[in-house]
Amino acid sequence: GAPGCLGWLSICLQLPTSGLPAQWGTYEPGSMTVTWTTWVPTRSEVQFGLQLTGPLPLRAQGTFSPFVDGGVLRRKFYIHRVTLRGLLPGVQYVYRCGSSRGWSRRFRFRALKNGPHWSPRLAVFGDLGADNPKALPRLRRDTQQGMYDAVLHVGDFAYNMDQDNARVGDKFMRLIEPVAASLPYMTCPGNHEERYNFSNYKARFTMPGNTEGLWYSWDLGPAHIISFSTEVYFFLHYGRHLVERQFHWLESDLQKANKNRAARPWIITMGHRPMYCSNADLDDCTWHESKVRKGLRGKFYGLEDLFYKYGVDLQLWAHEHSYERLWPIYNYQVFNGSRETPYTNPRGPVHIITGSAGCEERLTPFSLFPRPWSAVRVKEYGYTRLHILNGTHVHIQQVSDDQDGKIVDDVWVVRPLLGRMMYL
Ligand SMILES: *[C@@H]1O[C@H](CO)[C@@H](O)[C@H](O)[C@H]1NC(C)=O
Ligand SMILES: *[C@@H]1O[C@H](CO)[C@@H](O)[C@H](O)[C@H]1NC(C)=O
Ligand SMILES: *[C@@H]1O[C@H](CO)[C@@H](O)[C@H](O)[C@H]1NC(C)=O
Repeated sequence: GAPGCLGWLSICLQLPTSGLPAQWGTYEPGSMTVTWTTWVPTRSEVQFGLQLTGPLPLRAQGTFSPFVDGGVLRRKFYIHRVTLRGLLPGVQYVYRCGSSRGWSRRFRFRALKNGPHWSPRLAVFGDLGADNPKALPRLRRDTQQGMYDAVLHVGDFAYNMDQDNARVGDKFMRLIEPVAASLPYMTCPGNHEERYNFSNYKARFTMPGNTEGLWYSWDLGPAHIISFSTEVYFFLHYGRHLVERQFHWLESDLQKANKNRAARPWIITMGHRPMYCSNADLDDCTWHESKVRKGLRGKFYGLEDLFYKYGVDLQLWAHEHSYERLWPIYNYQVFNGSRETPYTNPRGPVHIITGSAGCEERLTPFSLFPRPWSAVRVKEYGYTRLHILNGTHVHIQQVSDDQDGKIVDDVWVVRPLLGRMMYL
């Protein structure tokens, strides 16, 4: 028979308003988007239900669009997107996707809970390749055990999705399927997605908003999560205007998030290239005036001032293939809450760099001497667990894959319920 749903798909959250000017805070509770690929144009349908076996009584239709890779073969495939609606919060669903021409096997996911009063658990990492994906077996096991509500993949996929006429992208999506078909797999672009103007990245994921996943935000329990592209600062030939557009969007999103801060006190950002790092390479973050931190030519559209001004709590980064935690920091100055409990009432944002999920480039070494703002450095494969317990408490743990799942960093960030916008 003709190939239908060829078994790889990623499931992502999506705002129901996608296509309209980026709407914020309108994420429709009880919705989930399923994305998958076929080699021939077929209808896009998801069948779903509550029972593990037997018929799947519910149905949702979606749309597909052709995607042509930029490689010499101009490989063409079809990306299907179907949004399921009216899901009951916290309830597990069984689904399959495809059409009369072929169906996927069955997968399961749990609909997200509604409102701010629950405790989301996230797996966070970047730089996961199709070769040497060290952390993946453990992430798969964690996922099967129901440890997470969502994944944040902080850029750099497959190495690279466009490679070998996008076949590496196919392979990668199949690899992550046991995770990505069970959890909302939320992304931001990294430098490895750059080819053909990030087209493989934009096509293969379905992020909220109308920027094809370059920047967007969403609410999750007591947190507002902002995903953005650090790459606009580096690949200027794709458009300088993107730096400016993103910056203005970030500012207005932060303003709105702060109006809603009593309900959702945490503002968490994810972007690929860090502002600071103490690795032994020549990356942007090793320069005193890094572009992400200080902007173009050291003064235009820098993000450190912006994030500080709006009281961003936690900044998640990757790019360096290692794990590093910083003391609360602003402009190279450490702003501990106190010497005994630096992360209780910190007076500056907390940065975590977690890019050691595993890829063909292996791990990145650190500079010999840690900097005064560097709290913990781990050069081991692994990933981060982020538990947003409630409006005042967040738990961060680093899992070492090299040490068979041992927790090698463990810290609580505590901020007061009110007055979050300003760092004093
Ligand atoms: C690259 O893509 C962005 C949108 O994702 C678009 O605004 C920009 O104009 C594109 N650049 C080029 C050179 O095609
Ligand atoms: C911040 O706290 C840590 C841990 O107590 C300490 O080692 C470091 O020196 C402190 N930094 C400053 C500037 O107080
Ligand atoms: C959050 O949980 C911690 C630990 O259980 C607790 O001490 C704190 O009061 C809680 N905060 C809120 C706002 O409920």
